[in-house]
Amino acid sequence: MKEYTIQSIVRVYGWEELTPEDRNLIEAAKNATDGSYAPYSGFCVGAAALLKDGTVVIGSNQENVAYPSGLCAERTTLFAANAQYPDQPVLSLAIAARNKEGFLSQPITPCGACRQVISGVEQRYNQPIRILLYGTEGTHIIDNIDALLPLQFGDSYLGR
Ligand code: THU
Repeated sequence: MKEYTIQSIVRVYGWEELTPEDRNLIEAAKNATDGSYAPYSGFCVGAAALLKDGTVVIGSNQENVAYPSGLCAERTTLFAANAQYPDQPVLSLAIAARNKEGFLSQPITPCGACRQVISGVEQRYNQPIRILLYGTEGTHIIDNIDALLPLQFGDSYLGR
């Protein structure tokens, strides 16, 4: 038997430690929660994608009475970005969430399906996506999806 260890590095930043560009993207994600439609969960998630040309695309979770038909903020945002700007790689994705008490102190992390889509977008453009997970007590930053989705399925398995 052999064994190997997979490591994920998460860097936690205070607000003052963030670059102005990252702060702007997080503010965009926080503002995007205003467009959330979450009557069933009461949990409002916003995301903002920074594209290579500087465009910022926002999105939020959109729920549906048939629960599985709704979509998370991350996929809403990435699909909107790719649909409107198919030639623009995504450089960074910021995510913020609030409940009825306000923004969460500890950030949420994307669900499994969103992780897979982030992985797909990275592969499509051959561009790592920095992920900024906002919490009021700190923003957790990872360099790319590998930290959240180790051993991910990808194009290489299809011989592409
Ligand atoms: N949700 C997101 O939009 N992103 C996440 O990373 C986790 C969960 C949404 C889905 C649903 O509308 C609500 O939050 C509660 O799960």
